[in-house]
Amino acid sequence: PSSSKCSAVYLYHHGLALPSAAHSTQSLEFFQNFSLEDTDVLAVTYPKSGTIWMQEILPLLLNGGDLTPIHTIPNWDRVPWLEEKRLEVVVDQLKSPRAFVTHFPYNLMPPSFHTSKAKAIYVMRDPRDVLVSSYYFHQMAEFLEEPGTFDEFIGKFLEGKVLFGKWTDHVKSWMHTELGDRIMHITYEEMVQDLPAALRRMADFLGRNLDPETIQKIAEQCSFQTMKKNTMSNFSLVPKAYMDNDKSPFLRKGQAGDWRNHFSSEQLARFSSVI
Ligand code: A3P
Repeated sequence: PSSSKCSAVYLYHHGLALPSAAHSTQSLEFFQNFSLEDTDVLAVTYPKSGTIWMQEILPLLLNGGDLTPIHTIPNWDRVPWLEEKRLEVVVDQLKSPRAFVTHFPYNLMPPSFHTSKAKAIYVMRDPRDVLVSSYYFHQMAEFLEEPGTFDEFIGKFLEGKVLFGKWTDHVKSWMHTELGDRIMHITYEEMVQDLPAALRRMADFLGRNLDPETIQKIAEQCSFQTMKKNTMSNFSLVPKAYMDNDKSPFLRKGQAGDWRNHFSSEQLARFSSVI
């Protein structure tokens, strides 16, 4: 590894690299035995595809636009990652209907996900923008190794030598499921383009009948600019030794198509020959 960060340590689970800062053998066991309920809702993402955006959106959609959770509970406790250490700490404080996020591929979901009626929203993002976002994230997250040059990072991404493995494996795993109407797919780009419309589609899927004013209010609360100011969502509560927002803010640009500012035509051709 090209790491200058001595704290960058990974745990390997079924070949997937997970940062040890957030995962442990115990947290993965807890995840495997976790009891999902019929009313639970999961947002599923490959890292850097809009996870924390969903941590803002889901509580608002599920509770008629009540702002209390997003103003009082940090995102990682409000809508915890199923596979991370923090779940065990906060699980008893979660109110029904519970919302979770996960970066896990479909084939590694726990048994209770399959036997319950829990719903899943899969958020997919243009992988070129995922790569760019991840490149900056590796610079600011002190628990991850340095990304190397942008060109080197493209190589790692295409080979799947990055967090949670190959982007294509992740996306494909969640495309061909037996979940029927328990899963909906949405894209980050669709959310950027028309957030109120995306929220209406998600609300319909979750069986929430929200009036246009509430949808509008939720869209404003979940806008990039508002989230950037929300200390419960912008990771400013996390110590600098863990995430350094001065190196690159977690809520960095929030745009579709930033890859155009980073890829050369050769790099794009290389990328497109694989994905
Ligand atoms: P950028 O680095 O391109 O800005 P994740 O939460 O899965 O790690 O994804 C992080 C990416 O989602 C970052 O992308 C971040 O800015 C973006 N994001 C988070 N909230 C957003 C919002 N409200 N609107 C647009 N993008 C958002």
